[in-house]
Amino acid sequence: MSFSRYFQSQPSPEEILQRVQGYSSWIEVNLDNIGYNLEQAKNISGVEIIPCLKKNAYAHGIAPVTAYLMSKGVKRVLVAKLWEARAIRKAGLDCGIINMDPVYTDDQYKWIVENHISQVSYHRESAEKLSNTASELETDVSVWVKVDTGLGRVGVRWNEAVELIEYMAQLPYLRIEGLFSTLLEDDMDFTQIKRLKEVKNELTARGIQVPTLSIASSHGIFLRPESSLDAVRPGVMLFGWYPMPEARTKGVELRQALALKGRLEHVKWVDKGTPLTYGGAFVAPKRMKVGTMHMGYSDGYLRQLSKKGIVNVNGKICPIIGGVSINHLIIDLSDTDAETGDTVDAISLTGANDAHSLCEIAGVEPYQLAVWMSPITPRVYYLDGKPVALLEPEL
Ligand SMILES: Cc1ncc(COP(=O)(O)O)c(C=O)c1O
Repeated sequence: MSFSRYFQSQPSPEEILQRVQGYSSWIEVNLDNIGYNLEQAKNISGVEIIPCLKKNAYAHGIAPVTAYLMSKGVKRVLVAKLWEARAIRKAGLDCGIINMDPVYTDDQYKWIVENHISQVSYHRESAEKLSNTASELETDVSVWVKVDTGLGRVGVRWNEAVELIEYMAQLPYLRIEGLFSTLLEDDMDFTQIKRLKEVKNELTARGIQVPTLSIASSHGIFLRPESSLDAVRPGVMLFGWYPMPEARTKGVELRQALALKGRLEHVKWVDKGTPLTYGGAFVAPKRMKVGTMHMGYSDGYLRQLSKKGIVNVNGKICPIIGGVSINHLIIDLSDTDAETGDTVDAISLTGANDAHSLCEIAGVEPYQLAVWMSPITPRVYYLDGKPVALLEPEL
């Protein structure tokens, strides 16, 4: 099994912990929590889960997350960038991959066919190119057709879809694996579901089988039971984040999977009146103990948390003082006995500084937090309380 080989190829737990000793900032990913959220998605929808792992699995690190999801029975995942598909195959993982990234060059088409990627296509030209490339390589290629049922972003418009898919279906080396669409997340949703089903029914009437029909992401799973169809594509909820505030009222517990940690680079006492950070954004109101972390918004600690954020230092909640800069943030440590080198939980799994709370303080959505998490911050993966995988940045 490719996922067991992936985990077997990782450094030992002792070595992982040893390497963490040298990090100034790092992300910890709790895989059990992702497994728990996956179960919630299965229980609510009752259909196949095709995890959406865009933006490097919402910043959690695409290869280890994919390996773990495979170990939990996931057969195929959805990616938004070809780099993500490449990272999964480079890690030796052989699950199905549906790539939404548009492709332009012959080399990209060739790589897709050779690596058994299911490509999203909704133009005759790209479908022909896929079929011809598969023919040259003496194999076939599967595609997912994006149908624009009303969102107006990408995809073949629903009223032109049957004609296009009928054309695609007769291309000799191309297999239609699924049709998918994205909801507007408002009252139009019901019309969109109807339109997608009508496309499938008309194709069936013309003798063209569509194995999988999908329209729901996390929002649909929580708020539109009728949108489950054959498969759902949760992204953000798998990582423990509610897609929107109403989802919190549905009685479904989600468990955050990502924690951001760092060490105190420098701890000192400053006198009353001492200005701290650019522009003297904070002026010490009294003699106080301050700590500087070698972590900032380049790691993903939101800049909007300047003067507002909180961190957890040895179990105590401490405020961020002054601005969050690229690589530094300063904390009031007056009520702690913290020392240089101590670990600080910048984003905790639970508590006052968990991801949801910090997003509320910062006035951003969890999606934005995920997008800002840095690819050059190392990631450590825990299963059953033990470190089982490590991703160190490659530049
Ligand atoms: C096509 C598609 N499906 C599923 C998702 C997952 O969405 P969410 O993270 O809201 O579950 C996305 C994310 O933007 C998407 O583009």
